[in-house]
Amino acid sequence: MHAVVLVGGFGTRLRPLTFSTPKPLLPIANVRQLEHLIAALGTAGVTEVVLAIGFKPQPFLDAFPDGVCAGVALHYAVEPEPLDTAGAIAFAARHAGISDTFIVMNGDILCDVDLTALVAFHKAHDAEGTLHLTPVDDPSQYGVVEIDADGWVQRFVEKPQPGETSSNVVNAGTYVLEPAVLDRIPENQKMSIERVVFPAMVADSRLAAMATDDYWIDTGRPDTYLQANLDLIDGSRSRILSSVGVNAHVAASASITHSVIGDNCVVEDGCVVSDSVLLPGAHIGARVRLERSLVMGSVGDGASLVDCVVGLDGHVSPNASLVGVKVPDPSEVAN
Ligand code: GDD
Ligand code: MG
Repeated sequence: MHAVVLVGGFGTRLRPLTFSTPKPLLPIANVRQLEHLIAALGTAGVTEVVLAIGFKPQPFLDAFPDGVCAGVALHYAVEPEPLDTAGAIAFAARHAGISDTFIVMNGDILCDVDLTALVAFHKAHDAEGTLHLTPVDDPSQYGVVEIDADGWVQRFVEKPQPGETSSNVVNAGTYVLEPAVLDRIPENQKMSIERVVFPAMVADSRLAAMATDDYWIDTGRPDTYLQANLDLIDGSRSRILSSVGVNAHVAASASITHSVIGDNCVVEDGCVVSDSVLLPGAHIGARVRLERSLVMGSVGDGASLVDCVVGLDGHVSPNASLVGVKVPDPSEVAN
């Protein structure tokens, strides 16, 4: 079976981290997010993953030079220009010659849904498409879905206005689709699957959905990206990964609590690090205090950071005291 993974977004909310690394290639507990997704797809019997790339293909080609990820073959489909979600799915599926039932995944989610069960649900309903749904506290930032007792979608509202729907069950970003869905999407045209194609399928009573309440997170914001990392080291999920990457140097006098230390990081004497993620190659000077922060660049001796995000080109001055700051400030960086 084929799967299409959408990796073409700009990762705006995770800037400055995504200035240097596309969101799906950022590590979650020292394993690239894309690798987490593709490993799950492989377990469900997917043998080829088509990466739907909207722009900048090179980092993906560099990340998987053999064209294999988690034991699954990769096919790269680079859009002539970002085609939005439906345009990207159709472009990728046509590029790879998909002609049978296939899975689609947003590249910025992590979840424990049983994909084999999702495909079985889709087949049992003889649906044209089947969505995975998950409950959330604040549905306003998602595609909100209303279903009937038999699992057929009655309504799909992307990013609803307050009061527009009372459902708190949302599109979790994993779909099983029949190739017939592609007939709804014109070639090389920008189109949103959430705003155009799903509502059309609902009108035809051809869109099913399976809700589950297992682990699910959208890693697209600094707080959820941090959470996704910590959930994989502290036993919140069924898997526990190592919190320290390869070739990391942590001074014996440093105190590290509930944090991820990436490959090739340096943490010098007397640092106190808690609830934080150091991305590969981060350099943390002596006596630095880090709390709930994400660091890719360097932090000078004696600095204190709380709720901060430091990108690859971010250098925090010695003894600085920062709260809720992004370094560099994405609004001041030209793209
Ligand atoms: N190739 C390609 N080209 N991919 C794209 C493009 C494009 O033009 N635009 C967006 N994507 C990818 C993003 O990289 C991401 O993996 C996925 O499509 C969804 O886009 P987001 O921008 O992350 O959307 P969202 O998070 O606001 O909402 C989506 O995800 C929610 C669940 O996390 C929607 O699918 C919602 O309905 C859903 O609830
Ligand atoms: Mg998203």
